[in-house]
Amino acid sequence: MSGIVFFKTQDLDGIRKFYTGTLGLSLYLDQGKCLIFAHNGFLIGFYLGLESQTQGTITFLYDSKSLVDAAYERFRSISTTEPCVNALFGIYHFWASDPEGRVLEFQYFLKPEEIQTDSNEIVEILNEDSSKPKLLLTRLLPQKAMDKLQEVFELHANTSDRAMQIRELNEHIAGKDALVCLLNDRIDAELIAAADKLKVIANYAVGYNNIDLEAAKARNIAVCNTPGVLTESTADLAWALIMATARRIPESDKFSREGKFLGWEPLLFLGKDIHHKTLGILGMGRIGQAVARRAIGFGMDIIYHGPSTKELDFPAQYVEFDTLIREADILSLHLPLTPETRHMIGEKELRAMKPGAILINTARGAIVDEKMLIKALREGWIWAAGLDVYEEEPEIPAELKELPNVLVLPHIGSASLETREAMGMLAARNAIAIIDGKQAPARVV
Ligand code: GLV
Ligand code: GLV
Repeated sequence: MSGIVFFKTQDLDGIRKFYTGTLGLSLYLDQGKCLIFAHNGFLIGFYLGLESQTQGTITFLYDSKSLVDAAYERFRSISTTEPCVNALFGIYHFWASDPEGRVLEFQYFLKPEEIQTDSNEIVEILNEDSSKPKLLLTRLLPQKAMDKLQEVFELHANTSDRAMQIRELNEHIAGKDALVCLLNDRIDAELIAAADKLKVIANYAVGYNNIDLEAAKARNIAVCNTPGVLTESTADLAWALIMATARRIPESDKFSREGKFLGWEPLLFLGKDIHHKTLGILGMGRIGQAVARRAIGFGMDIIYHGPSTKELDFPAQYVEFDTLIREADILSLHLPLTPETRHMIGEKELRAMKPGAILINTARGAIVDEKMLIKALREGWIWAAGLDVYEEEPEIPAELKELPNVLVLPHIGSASLETREAMGMLAARNAIAIIDGKQAPARVV
């Protein structure tokens, strides 16, 4: 089988110059309105279209890392990144762009042993001391937390700038007494089985849906998290999303930067009011309460739903789930991800929300059926969404990124200097307490 990948262009001449001249591809066919280029048996076509279709990535495959490096030397002027390993995808690559903004990728698929070589080096012992218990740290934390951990542990830390792969975790967990890990490290039954000496898993997060609790419990391994210390920062970020989506802040900032602001206009970037509207909180735990408390200054009515009613020091009304969905102008999610909460916001709920409603998710992506959310935003079942989390992180669906009424943040709810340090200190105190045979400040099982 053979085929051609086609793109629309407005500038066939520019495309011809770039793809034959700059990139050095051969012209396979020129039909006037349509140009086709060949690259090692794969064909890329461009035809004259009304609007230029700039989306899409053209990936050029090479047979070795050094060929990618050589391509980088040739195409440095159009490159947008330097060559690097992406261990998650097992590739060595760099990106460039063509004159109409299409992404060009120059790539080599790494062989398993090449990924291996690269990865064996990522864990380093920071303070060799065999008299101390050993701790595996899957990513560097704020220094104060690292110092605290080093007082007690021999620290084996991933010093690279990427997450550890499952295979690497499996390799390095053996012989470790303690583990401090991230919310994107999957601590599953297989890993726990390989953890022959492990006594504590200290998650650097309040959420712990990345850990197989049953498997840990069965092996008598304590699991700890970092509640409380990130509550206020996460609530701040939920509010940043509320205000930015309601008042279309990123869109209008982009507009100004592009030089499009030519004078005050009566209908420019009309958004939604926040004050005196109804805020719906799904999950009135610590973070839900902190978000709700901030709404009082805006004169909002607060309604909430969750597993139970709460004693609250501010006015808020407990309502049924259906009522919450139907009546909230802004619906903010603050539940943990569990089998029961997965896809709790699906087609039925999105269709039942107000057409002017805004959905805010700073909890976990999979609480929302992402495919349905895309449909809802496209078809105007709801007005906008502010997201910090996704179903398959770090994957953010392209459809979401293309919609103007969505804000897509890279999971930064707790990302303030002060809070990340406090989370690090709490994770460290958790690990140290368990190793000392004491009660941990925040133990889940
Ligand atoms: C962040 O999402 C956390 O669970 O800490
Ligand atoms: C997390 O700390 C929560 O209670 O939602």
